[in-house]
Amino acid sequence: MSIKESNFIKEMIKVINDMWIKGWDERNGGNVSYRLVKEEVEQYKKELRGERKIELFSELKELAGEYFLVTGTGKYFRNVILEPDVNLGIVRISEDGKSYTILWGFTDGGRPTSEFPAHLLSHIERMNVTEGKNRVVMHTHATNLIALSYVLDLTTENFTKQLWEMSTECLVVFPDGIGVIPWMIPGKEEIAIATAEKMRKHSMVLWPFHGIFGTGKNLDEAFGLIDTAEKAAEILVKVLSMGGKKQTISDKELKALAEGFGVKPLDGVLK
Ligand code: 13P
Ligand code: ZN
Repeated sequence: MSIKESNFIKEMIKVINDMWIKGWDERNGGNVSYRLVKEEVEQYKKELRGERKIELFSELKELAGEYFLVTGTGKYFRNVILEPDVNLGIVRISEDGKSYTILWGFTDGGRPTSEFPAHLLSHIERMNVTEGKNRVVMHTHATNLIALSYVLDLTTENFTKQLWEMSTECLVVFPDGIGVIPWMIPGKEEIAIATAEKMRKHSMVLWPFHGIFGTGKNLDEAFGLIDTAEKAAEILVKVLSMGGKKQTISDKELKALAEGFGVKPLDGVLK
């Protein structure tokens, strides 16, 4: 069996196509990284190369030897299904954590997303807080979440609370809320550090006027998380367009919901 028929490549193609269909990933918008299990990748040893080595922006010892399946910079999500080996790549972080080698994909000379620093630093934080369970970081330009960043107060507590109120399942799906950072220049180390810092407490981070970062143990979970938040954001956009809330789920009800589902709401959101 060829690597193109592996479950991880098939799952990646499916989720990226779903994101495109959702309308979240115009042009080259969005990027996904998936930390692969060593044994899974090594089954395809014969197809792995390793001639291209690229220096990392910083020394990431925590990721030494890890394999990542990642989208390419400048690549269009709508084309991944057509040419996965051009638009995706598998890389392995070196043993000293200072560089990575391209093992598969990026066949036109491409390289990982410009947001790879934010992905890798977020992987480190999410691995720490989930005892290694989190393996996916997903960035996308989810339309309604971006729209709301122009009208809601840009605090973690406010954004989280507004979304929790928009659909009963939100608090259950993301009890740890959505971390909000200030606007920053994308693709740089500063935004990567700010994003990863929020990932210590939250499974999602909003980049105002740009998009969202979501994480999860697998591609379904990361996609489902963003999809849930984006759906709540769409409802809020509709509610605000209809003149605003006349009634909502109260803090008391949200607390009862959390208790009923055995989740702990992020501190400082509910009164
Ligand atoms: P890349 O094409 O480098 O992945 O960038 C897309 C993007 O969404 C930047 O934030
Ligand atoms: Zn982006």
